Amino acid sequence: MAAHSFTRTPQTVPFVQTAHRRIQTTIPTPGTEAILEQLDRFESRSMHGQLPLVWDRAEDFSVFDSAGNRWIDFTSTIFVANVGHSNPRVTAAIKTMLDKPIFSCYAYGNETRAKYLEKLVNFAGKPFEKAFLLSAGTEATEAALKLMRMQGQKQNKRRRGIICIEGNWHGRTLGAQMMSSNLGQREWIGYQDTDIHHIPFPYPWVLNGLSPEAFLDEGLSKLTAAGIDIAQDICGFMLETFQGWGAVFYPVEFVQSIERICRKNGILLAFDEMQAGFGRTGRAFGFQHYDVTPDLICCGKGMGGGVSLSGVLGRAEIMDLPDVGNMSSTHSANPLVCAAGLAVIEEIESKNLVAETARKGDLLFTALGELQVHYPNRIDKLLGRGLIAAVLFRHPETGEADGAFTSRVAELCMQKGLLVVHTGRESIKIGPPLTITDAALLEGVDVLGEAIAEVAAQ
Ligand SMILES: Cc1ncc(COP(=O)(O)O)c(C=O)c1O
Repeated sequence: MAAHSFTRTPQTVPFVQTAHRRIQTTIPTPGTEAILEQLDRFESRSMHGQLPLVWDRAEDFSVFDSAGNRWIDFTSTIFVANVGHSNPRVTAAIKTMLDKPIFSCYAYGNETRAKYLEKLVNFAGKPFEKAFLLSAGTEATEAALKLMRMQGQKQNKRRRGIICIEGNWHGRTLGAQMMSSNLGQREWIGYQDTDIHHIPFPYPWVLNGLSPEAFLDEGLSKLTAAGIDIAQDICGFMLETFQGWGAVFYPVEFVQSIERICRKNGILLAFDEMQAGFGRTGRAFGFQHYDVTPDLICCGKGMGGGVSLSGVLGRAEIMDLPDVGNMSSTHSANPLVCAAGLAVIEEIESKNLVAETARKGDLLFTALGELQVHYPNRIDKLLGRGLIAAVLFRHPETGEADGAFTSRVAELCMQKGLLVVHTGRESIKIGPPLTITDAALLEGVDVLGEAIAEVAAQ
């Protein structure tokens, strides 16, 4: 998260009133500062750094504060509210459980849990046969790490190696941080698991005319030169479906080559679908863009429609590697989250949200493309697919990534009634609820354009 600190002092900003936005007070709203100070005082600062907006309620694609201001939400609380904030079907499903009443039953059987798991596995389709539910995304990537290692150990005691991709990110617990390549974030560990390796990410701007396959070979040959035998030492590849900060997808050939290596050598292929799953990219799961078949997928965020639900899915023979009781968690799969998860999939299916997201994604990228034509010396790149987009900004003179400009644009968007994802880097991410109307989506892009124009003129 960004070190950038946004002003908490209420600013007088223009009044806004449209069908989707309302800004009728100073921004931040009076009272915001006191609540943020209370949080500063009693909560670890590691949670902080976002735009100074105190959410009071959120419905569908709108966020409201207690003063009645209303924002178009381009964040989905970082890609959680895929089916819309406080989705009525999800709310009703949770209420049914509360009224039963049942909150939790740990590993005892529960009808809703059984129904949900069947629905989830069918939603994911072949080759997925079983799932294991958890609460946080980082637990899901840790579980995949464990399953890949268990499979490797079953085949051959040497097979402990996991290959990950530089710049990818998988969560904040120990194994997840070791698989991530944010060196600063994993400094606290004090050592790196020598069997977790990283190869370079094939950013379009580093390929330098090299084919994606040759780029992969180059990355792998560095591992081989360091004494790693891919066929003997590696049990898994872990790929973030697209690289988060910039919604950067891999060239298809890169991922397909990895899949071929996995198949040839009995290596498991896992995708971290945290941001990409549940319709976000215009496919049910983001890996489908690469036309490959993973062995494991790690899901979370949009999976629960706003409640803490994550999970790993895979073939039965992999998912059943841990013995009875050796992969469970107290709060995982409780009836409340299972009811919510079931309602999320029903909502995606009944509203045809996967195809709708692909359609709206075309609208979004066309509108963003027009913005780029207006600001070619500011907007460096537009990346993403479906309803996940990243706008990368550069300095007009140096051409360098311009994080400061980006933060000012994000702040001005907030003052105008649009909430975007502030990454702390040179990118603004756009990921509205998949239920957003075309009109609100396009209005949001117009607001982004206004903000770019005003910050550029300052
Ligand atoms: C790609 C990816 N993997 C893993 C995680 C970790 O998920 P959680 O924050 O739920 O632990 C995130 C969260 O941002 C993510 O974006």
